[in-house]
Amino acid sequence: MTKIRALIVGCGNIAGVFDADRPADALPLTHAGAFSRHGGYDLAACMDPDGERVDAFRKRWNIPTGYASFEELQNCAGRFDVVSICSPTALHASHLRLALTLKPRLVFCEKPVTGTVAETTKWVEEFDKAGVKLAINHTRRWAPDVLLLREQIHTGAWGKIRSATATYSKGVLNNGGHMVDLLIGLLGQLSLLSAGQPLWDFWDDDPTIPAMLQTSSGVPVQLNVSDARDFAFFELQIVSERGVILMENGGFQWRVRKVIDSPQFNGYRSLDAGELIHGEYASAMSRAVENIYNAVLFGETLASTGHGALEAQRLCEQIKSSSLAQFCTDNRSQPSN
Ligand SMILES: NC(=O)c1ccc[n+]([C@@H]2O[C@H](COP(=O)([O-])OP(=O)(O)OC[C@H]3O[C@@H](n4cnc5c(N)ncnc54)[C@H](O)[C@@H]3O)[C@@H](O)[C@H]2O)c1
Repeated sequence: MTKIRALIVGCGNIAGVFDADRPADALPLTHAGAFSRHGGYDLAACMDPDGERVDAFRKRWNIPTGYASFEELQNCAGRFDVVSICSPTALHASHLRLALTLKPRLVFCEKPVTGTVAETTKWVEEFDKAGVKLAINHTRRWAPDVLLLREQIHTGAWGKIRSATATYSKGVLNNGGHMVDLLIGLLGQLSLLSAGQPLWDFWDDDPTIPAMLQTSSGVPVQLNVSDARDFAFFELQIVSERGVILMENGGFQWRVRKVIDSPQFNGYRSLDAGELIHGEYASAMSRAVENIYNAVLFGETLASTGHGALEAQRLCEQIKSSSLAQFCTDNRSQPSN
């Protein structure tokens, strides 16, 4: 198998720590976990200003070289095929710029790409100009069950889609971005009808906001909220002509409710209790690095790109602007809930 060389920038949770203590046969949830399980990657180097993190990361993932900053990587142009950006979001714009100086074939950047549509647009364009592929970790774009559902919706297997209701917490850009990207992936382009009151449940600069959206054919899509301080919640219900599909627990499980003759009311049709299906979210990171490997070596189309992430971020930013304009007119950035 041809090996491609990877550099990981930022040695925290999504870079590898989430997988550090998981069993060897557990499906990987992180960049290092997925690269090292794949077999086609040479995990060549990692970088983090926190020396202890670099040491622990190198030891856990068997990485020969560690760096403390991009300055130390100055003479490494052309040494890495793939650069993973797993640093805090506020640093992504500068790390996308520095990653380009290393002349990789592809950058796999964590979401959100940057904090604003303006910056994300700039870097998506710069990557296009440089001819470097940009993959964004909107993980569900690689989940096999999400892809199957998308195909079923598009081929009409569920009949007409009547509505969708999605619930998220922890920021309209941070987790809302995942949800909006998932909705666009499943239902196509969305537009904003109205935005509701912001809930400041986790990030100082990224409230969780409800919104009414619609698809290009007018299907109503409700974006609802939960509070991250209560519990983590990321769920979706799609109501169709032929039944109801529920993505539960972030996609770790699904429930499909099919149309039946009502057991109570003669002549009526209702839904069964639903079949609980084990979700395939956990295999998404493995699929992502396989897609990235094939994109680098064979030009395979990426399932999640900078352009796709930008489309989702535009809608998230519109929701935020609309909500803040209505509900934060006294210029308070963070009202108490
Ligand atoms: N796709 C997902 O579902 C998902 C999940 C979690 C996090 N994320 C995203 O991943 C990114 C990182 O989040 P995390 O939870 O892993 O954070 P984290 O705090 O666990 O890790 C961030 C790491 O970056 C390092 N760092 C700080 N400054 C740096 C610099 N100048 N250069 C290189 N590294 C630097 C920190 O020392 C830390 O080790 C964020 O953008 C976050 O939104 C995405």
